[in-house]
Amino acid sequence: MNKVDLAALRENYTKGSLDVSDVLPSPIQEFQKWFEQAVDSQILEPNAMHVSTVSNEGKPSSRIVLLKSLDSTGFTFYTNYLSRKGTELAENPHACITFFWGELERQVRIEGLIEKVSEQDSDEYFSVRPRGSQIGAWVSNQSMVIDNREVLEEREKSIVAKFEGKDVPRPPHWGGYRLVPHYIEFWQGRPSRLHDRIAYTLTENNQWKIERLSP
Ligand SMILES: Cc1cc2nc3c(=O)[nH]c(=O)nc-3n(C[C@H](O)[C@H](O)[C@H](O)COP(=O)(O)O)c2cc1C
Repeated sequence: MNKVDLAALRENYTKGSLDVSDVLPSPIQEFQKWFEQAVDSQILEPNAMHVSTVSNEGKPSSRIVLLKSLDSTGFTFYTNYLSRKGTELAENPHACITFFWGELERQVRIEGLIEKVSEQDSDEYFSVRPRGSQIGAWVSNQSMVIDNREVLEEREKSIVAKFEGKDVPRPPHWGGYRLVPHYIEFWQGRPSRLHDRIAYTLTENNQWKIERLSP
């Protein structure tokens, strides 16, 4: 029984427009501009992004993680290297990131290859996380089946006791991944589903080619 009329749920997008002549030559700079606008518009967790990976059997999976740094080399997030996503990335480094900022009627799609960040970068970021999150990184064998919540809570107690009075070191299985992009697409919702889409593709000469796509 469906109480919500899904077929009738629709928005008409009117908040902005996008043209090849409006965008910056670098998609990273264009992304930074959009990201600042997302932060300014008070979106809850504007750095939340869908990361899609593909297993070596060709089966995709997605989950949300938080963007933790961005520079000209790529988009970095932190996670457990032994998780499902970590296993899939070890098998297949191709990945895709999607941001949806509904309040701005915007989507960004970023495709590229994933690499691990340096141990030093992972250490630096781990060291500024709240202590509870540092403990959590040791507690959770992310993506593994566990019998119940108590298993987690017991393990937390023992890890808290183990590191009492000491700094919590970064677990070797926890760290950053950077997606190095070769394709970035900006989507701005427009009326009557005739949306604006501007795509940047990295050419063989390492230049960004900018094109408009049909909605
Ligand atoms: C808003 C939000 C932020 C999240 N941020 C992270 C993150 O930064 N790193 C992470 O490993 N998981 C994060 N998660 C949890 C993931 O979505 C996911 O459940 C977890 O990483 C296990 O994914 P996997 O089994 O596909 O590897 C976040 C979830 C949400 C809803």
